[in-house]
Amino acid sequence: MYNLADRNIVLGVTGSISVYKAVDLASKITQAGAVLNVIMTPEATNFVSPITFQGVSGRRPYNDMWDVNPDIAEAHVALARQAELLVVAPATATFMARLALGLPEEMVSLTALATRAPVIVCPAMDSQMYEHPATQEHLNTLGSRGIQVVGPEEGRLASGQMGPGRLSEVETIIGWIRHVLGRAGDLAGKKVVVTAGGTHEPIDPVRFIGNNSSGKMGYALAEAARDRGADVVLVSGPSALPGPVAVEIVRVRRAAEMRDAVIAGCAGADVLIMAAAVADYQPVETVRDKIKREQAETLSIPMVPTPDILMEVGSREALLKVGFAAESQDLIANARRKIENKQLDLIVANDITASDAGFATDNNRVVILDSAGGQAQLPLMPKYDVAWHILDRIVSLLAGRKSQAEA
Ligand code: CTP
Repeated sequence: MYNLADRNIVLGVTGSISVYKAVDLASKITQAGAVLNVIMTPEATNFVSPITFQGVSGRRPYNDMWDVNPDIAEAHVALARQAELLVVAPATATFMARLALGLPEEMVSLTALATRAPVIVCPAMDSQMYEHPATQEHLNTLGSRGIQVVGPEEGRLASGQMGPGRLSEVETIIGWIRHVLGRAGDLAGKKVVVTAGGTHEPIDPVRFIGNNSSGKMGYALAEAARDRGADVVLVSGPSALPGPVAVEIVRVRRAAEMRDAVIAGCAGADVLIMAAAVADYQPVETVRDKIKREQAETLSIPMVPTPDILMEVGSREALLKVGFAAESQDLIANARRKIENKQLDLIVANDITASDAGFATDNNRVVILDSAGGQAQLPLMPKYDVAWHILDRIVSLLAGRKSQAEA
């Protein structure tokens, strides 16, 4: 299900102190099931031995362009042809200059020049080198040729100084790899709006009505849709999760703000997935000053319903609407009622009384129901896999609509 499985990826490693992070990157790419070939510059081998990369990738790295006994003749050309993606991490200023000027001198720049596959470059160097006009010009040149530049991040550098120049985090680089490899996926050209997390309805400046939603299901849906090529807008309630890369994230707090962001995001959208646990009620007003304990013996907070976002979006031919139903009783009957009331194409129902699934856990056990009466019970699985199944249903509904429209 993971879109790295069986993909042919080449990782180019050039000489920077951050090569140690590239070992972790190579390990994670391999664990995700990709076929990974590592190529190194001679400078990179001064920081980490090729044998370390061999250990994590299970394949002999290529680091010597003068090797008289390579496994394959003209290794750089062969690897460049096979590759579905070349990632250069870390990428030094020297490497970027060689690539920008077309002056290859070692395996990594030779392969980068020879490949027609997409290229991701992740710079890492001291800030002064990064900010130098020569480096900036080369980076602009690479960007203008369609190369995806990822990072660098700001932080503490090997020199002890703070500034831009740190290699991006491994998870961030993997996010970009998934995005680039997924661009031609079955949701390419589709715009998908996903909501995630709960909402906070403020009572006073420090208190709010909220719920236990962590946002994990919605974030997994946003990532999976991105991995299948969609343009994704993620409207997120308060959540501790980092925004997924290559996803437009709109952060909101209250149900009313979520409604506005969803309505704006749905312009031109093909799919809306409401995974958020939206509060059903909000205090009539947010009091200006903090409520004091001495104020009253008992406290009642008058509340009014929040806007029902799925209802307000309405139904229109071009927008496929997916809701979620978290229920503690009569799961299927309640979910069916919500399909009718909210005019949904699909609803994803889960029983919130189960302790191993649902709110704030990494796994979910759901039933997917459709407006035609269909129903599929999925076993307990990671939320990313649940997301993948939901998107499978969405892709087939979109295909059905397309063929209906063409008939
Ligand atoms: N939803 C919404 N706007 C709201 C509340 C919910 O769009 N104000 C969406 C949720 O994101 C979810 C679906 O509606 O996709 C069902 O949410 P749920 O809270 O289960 O439904 P309610 O209609 O609020 O019904 P209940 O009385 O069971 O809470």
